[in-house]
Amino acid sequence: MAKYRIGWMPGDGVGNEVMEAANIILEKLELDADLIHGDIGWKYWQSEGDALPQRTVEMLRTVDCALFGAITSKPKEEAEKELDPELRNKGLVYFSPIVRMRQLFDLHTNMRPCKAYKGNPLNYKDDIDITIFRENTEGMYGGVEFYPLPQEVYDVLDKHHPKMKKFKDAGVENTALSTRIMTRQGCERIVTGAFEYAKEFGKKAVTVCDKPNVLRETGGLMVRTAREIAKQYPEIELWETNIDAQCMWLVKNPENYEVIVAENMFGDILSDLSAQLVGGLGFAYSGNIGDKLAVFEPTHGSAPKYYGQYKVNPIAMILAVKMMLEWLGEKEMAERLENAVATVISEGKVRTYDMGGTHSSLEVAEAVAAKL
Ligand code: IPM
Ligand code: MG
Repeated sequence: MAKYRIGWMPGDGVGNEVMEAANIILEKLELDADLIHGDIGWKYWQSEGDALPQRTVEMLRTVDCALFGAITSKPKEEAEKELDPELRNKGLVYFSPIVRMRQLFDLHTNMRPCKAYKGNPLNYKDDIDITIFRENTEGMYGGVEFYPLPQEVYDVLDKHHPKMKKFKDAGVENTALSTRIMTRQGCERIVTGAFEYAKEFGKKAVTVCDKPNVLRETGGLMVRTAREIAKQYPEIELWETNIDAQCMWLVKNPENYEVIVAENMFGDILSDLSAQLVGGLGFAYSGNIGDKLAVFEPTHGSAPKYYGQYKVNPIAMILAVKMMLEWLGEKEMAERLENAVATVISEGKVRTYDMGGTHSSLEVAEAVAAKL
């Protein structure tokens, strides 16, 4: 029996191509693992009405961790139109499979490193090394939403909150509600994750980013919780920022920030902004980490227009493999892999189109493998 069981979910479009690149790396590393394929993505939505079929959920219950390529996501109405005709008008609703996996397996911590590798022509500045801790199951992604707003829900809110009145004239049939539910436990978990990371890697500060001056209750809970947790780490400073200003400062002085912790939606936004500072989607990767399972992925989408061309930068996927190795405790392998990636970037001889080169996804993977 192999040492590890790894779920293998290429998904849609270029997800398949970057997973081929990942496979080149794993073979070269000779990681002792069984790769278990999982069906996921748009074609399963179209043919089965479920982009994350139950058999894939069952498979995920049996693995140590999983690698995930990319998926196509479309808004509700468009998704419904693309269903096979016999599945239409049955009330099936498309949900993003990655968001569902996060919820189903309580993958509470989304860790997103954004590091400027030396010699990357796409770096905005060279001394950027930020890790974002995005809460991954609550907040604006909790999925508690209504449209139209049920009258009972309106009535309860109206009874408990004076500010509901002003929405009365529009009528419940014209009112949509998305909630931002956050718990003390959820805030504690993500903030603790950020501080533990800062401690392990000797970072001087953790920045908690929210908007407590407006979102007084949820933002307030996040910031108060961060202050409590910070007391257990006297050697690490706690900085508090608002999401809008943080975006500005990330453009102005990104080198000032090392660890940022945020609620789900704000973390989503901050991580795209930060990724662009270090080369964009070809470099953005993340770990969706829970207590029992972790799913590692490049943050980019399925890029239908590039599918079939082996064009996209596989580095994000390869760095997701690196993160998986760290999580599995294969520190030495992870370090070798990161060094190999850094060397290929700094030599600048093998590059995909986004970095100004003409090489394919697989050629970049081969170049990294050759340095291992
Ligand atoms: C991400 C992505 C997802 C998200 C999408 C694909 C649902 O943007 O992982 O950041 O919003 O979380
Ligand atoms: Mg995102």
